[in-house]
Amino acid sequence: MVNTNAQKFVLVTGGAGYIGTHTCIELLAAGYQPVVVDNLCNSREISLDRVAAISGVKIPFYSLDVGNAEALREVFSRYDFVGVLHFAGLKAVGESVTQPLRYYQNNVAATLVLAQVMQECGVERLIFSSSATVYGDPASVPISEDFPTSTTNPYGASKLMVEDILRDVCKVPNSGWKVCLLRYFNPVGAHISGLIGEDPSGTPNNLMPYVSQVAVGKLKQLGVFGDDYDTIDGTGVRDYIHVVDLAIGHVKALDKLMTEQPCCLTYNLGTGSGYSVLQMVKAFEQAAGVCVPYKVMPRRAGDIAQCYADPVMARDELGWTAELGLERMVADSWRWQSNNPKGYE
Ligand code: NAD
Ligand code: UFG
Repeated sequence: MVNTNAQKFVLVTGGAGYIGTHTCIELLAAGYQPVVVDNLCNSREISLDRVAAISGVKIPFYSLDVGNAEALREVFSRYDFVGVLHFAGLKAVGESVTQPLRYYQNNVAATLVLAQVMQECGVERLIFSSSATVYGDPASVPISEDFPTSTTNPYGASKLMVEDILRDVCKVPNSGWKVCLLRYFNPVGAHISGLIGEDPSGTPNNLMPYVSQVAVGKLKQLGVFGDDYDTIDGTGVRDYIHVVDLAIGHVKALDKLMTEQPCCLTYNLGTGSGYSVLQMVKAFEQAAGVCVPYKVMPRRAGDIAQCYADPVMARDELGWTAELGLERMVADSWRWQSNNPKGYE
């Protein structure tokens, strides 16, 4: 069979991280050739060795900061990129509140540098990692892409600012830009091989890595942030999406941009189903065959009761739907965590 994607180089910023590594595998499977740049501020190069072990392909890697225009230009001069998947970013909500300048510099200013270099080099296809956090506290669920946006912390604001910037870039008359803003809901799970997964530094902020680390004995017990929300069991409800489904969503988005006229498209990447904290804990316990002790704590500041996607637009326009259910999410999280109790260390 003819490989119609031959020599389709794709720049993957932040490609050594959690979602980036999984997306590299799906890009390779679809015939694209990822090239990774990452400053390793929240990842390790060994993650790309693991990607090579899974895929049989050693992805070219450049250790650089996306805010470094000179270093980026050098990479752009080596490859004829068809597009860029921009994962590089800092993502800890609490940290963004105490270090706003660092977050705006890294997530907004560095993205401006990337976009400028792309424009200079005539590469105008970009997929940006946005977040459901841009919906703030939604008036209702499920959340569709036309819901109003608002943010409550610098991390969320940095995502919305970049969305606004990219929308403006696409509005320029005769702009050649083809941009896709992907709003992720809650990515969880890991590659089925158990070789790559989420490896947070320090104590995890997010539910699933915390649960996994309790299950593996690294942490003592889970704090459940509030059991008095207006939800099925009082605990917060989220739209957990398997990271492999999320990765495939990026390939579908890139495929679309390959044939699209200049545009700025926005899609939710979620499953459309919500699970509560306690439902997640129970499912994890069943998959892992271990007990996850927990204690109910006060609500976490800034949390909302429930958040889940209306995923219909991605289905209709990208031909993408999440396929992997809760059992796979928790089983794969556990395989990764139990095979790698210290992450990539
Ligand atoms: P991650 O931290 O595992 O990956 C991000 C990668 O980017 C890391 O490898 C890090 O070293 C790199 N990086 C950060 N700043 C950089 C810079 N200036 N230059 C070069 N490399 C840099 O995080 P992830 O979970 O894979 O998230 C990827 C993207 O998706 C992020 O932009 C994040 O904000 C967004 N997102 C994540 C979630 C989530 O829950 N994981 C939800 C919504 C959106
Ligand atoms: N939770 C706990 N205990 C914990 C951690 C979380 O009970 O130790 C609860 C939270 O209160 C919430 C649910 O588990 O009800 C999920 O919390 P996460 O921190 O895993 O995820 P969030 O929905 O708060 O936020 C995540 C990312 C954000 C992103 C958002 C939407 O952290 O960056 O999803 O995509 F913006």
